[in-house]
Amino acid sequence: MKTQRLFSAVQPSGNLHIGNYLGAIAQWTALQAEYDAIFCIADLHAITVPQDPVALRAKTIEIAKIYLAAGVDPEQCTLFAQSQVKEHTELMWILNTLARLGDLEKMTQFKDKSAKGEKETAGVGLFDYPVLMAADILLYDTAIVPVGEDQLQHIELARTLARRFNDRFGESFVVPEGRVTRGGARIMGLDDPTKKMSKSATSEYNAIALTDTAEAIRKKIKKAVTDSGSEIVYRDDKPALKNLINIYSLLSMKTPESIEELYRGRGYGDFKTDLAEVVIGFLAPFQERFAAISDEEALAVLEAGAAEARILATGKMRLVRERIGLIG
Ligand code: TYM
Repeated sequence: MKTQRLFSAVQPSGNLHIGNYLGAIAQWTALQAEYDAIFCIADLHAITVPQDPVALRAKTIEIAKIYLAAGVDPEQCTLFAQSQVKEHTELMWILNTLARLGDLEKMTQFKDKSAKGEKETAGVGLFDYPVLMAADILLYDTAIVPVGEDQLQHIELARTLARRFNDRFGESFVVPEGRVTRGGARIMGLDDPTKKMSKSATSEYNAIALTDTAEAIRKKIKKAVTDSGSEIVYRDDKPALKNLINIYSLLSMKTPESIEELYRGRGYGDFKTDLAEVVIGFLAPFQERFAAISDEEALAVLEAGAAEARILATGKMRLVRERIGLIG
């Protein structure tokens, strides 16, 4: 009997990369048997920046296929797109009345935008984005949120809003906890190990997309930035190498120490050649499964998942409305 709820989501924007996989999706597939898991495609988050409607729809279906190909099992969990369950936006409005400007102005992602002088033109949706994420999480009485490190601040806000609501209206929401993995929580850019690997990076050499060809993967790993020196060591003062060893380790199930051992006395050339093969060896079967899933299949899974999620969401919103004193 699964007793604890797990919830997580990915935005259908840009190309999903191995950072998204190692930070989030790998945790999902490992935990879905143990938890009552709900996985969402956060399409309403994606529209906080301009999206082409045709591309957004295609991307949403692509992400569903990526979840399925990665091993998210609809028999074991619930999978749907955020916009299919209207209660996410309804709860967001209610949480908006509890969230403070000060809470949101602290958010690193928004601060990054405003620091670039974009505050005047940044959308209100972008500012309010963490409140929608809090609604996603709180709507389902979520206990555990498996994510990459960059989302922990947003989960902290969800915790704050849950407590604030509970204090004011009585126990209504579970206070969720973020969960990150060792090594995978923050995969760094291949072109710049001081910044996280990102879907929106401008250089194609920043990230390995889950849909990259073997040729592209070899090229990107060959070009990946390395540290000074020639030893293969897993150390904080060698951030580029540490990142590459993390990727190697997580995809091959070898420990960083055994990888150091394997490459003792050998150089970057050997290490990078093997790393490329490890990544390709992982992605090739994934890509085969991905190619075998039709759009119709993916849409049917989302529709069935949305029907399950709506039952939970409508029940929760009935309670929330009652607590607040809404007559609707
Ligand atoms: P998104 O789409 O930016 O990223 C999806 C997941 O991938 C993780 N991630 C990484 N992990 C390790 N290294 C990296 N370089 C890296 N880059 C991204 C993210 O931490 C995330 O877990 N707001 C969320 C989506 C969302 C959500 C939610 C998540 C919407 N509602 C509710 C959890 C719960 C986002 O934009 O993730």
